[in-house]
Amino acid sequence: MDATDMGEDLERVLVEEERIDQRLDEMAAEIDRDYAGENILLVGVLRGAVMVMADLSRKIHSRVEMDWMAVSSYGSGTKSSGVVRILKDLDTDVHDRHVLIVEDIIDSGLTLSWLKENLEARGATSVRIAALLRKPDAVKVKVEVSYLGFEIPNEFVVGYGLDYDEKYRHLPFIGTLAPKAYGG
Ligand code: PRP
Repeated sequence: MDATDMGEDLERVLVEEERIDQRLDEMAAEIDRDYAGENILLVGVLRGAVMVMADLSRKIHSRVEMDWMAVSSYGSGTKSSGVVRILKDLDTDVHDRHVLIVEDIIDSGLTLSWLKENLEARGATSVRIAALLRKPDAVKVKVEVSYLGFEIPNEFVVGYGLDYDEKYRHLPFIGTLAPKAYGG
């Protein structure tokens, strides 16, 4: 998928494919430096984090294992409800593990603050967060992010794993959605 496939639904490109790739290189280097000699359990949060997980993990030289969780915090709309529930739990026991949660976006912060606490309560040695995007204007709960790609404005964004109504996840860059595409 590319910009032309989105037609008028795309307002503008916010983070280009090349910038994502370069920033993930830097984040992976920081991760390798911080976890030197450790085995990391990467926990991807379905479904938005699939692209970040695939690309970031391939840039990490340290030993990693991957597991996935699915949690629900949104419906098909654009507003955060604040409700978090586990739809798919990990298959891995995180006890005594260094866990690095991989996320596409921190919006209100509710999902990640809840998830971090949940994994810490299971006895993980450490729980850190790597997120590609953060909307500083939208943060309701403060979450410490160890590896952050980009701060973005509080606009509705799609692409690189992020959807609107399950569409546009396979767009290779981050773009803003034209308000009329979501009835705005
Ligand atoms: C998105 C995103 C985060 C969460 C962030 O997931 O992937 O998990 O919302 O929002 P918050 O900071 O306000 O909690 P979503 O529920 O849309 O599911 P998806 O990953 O399947 O698209």
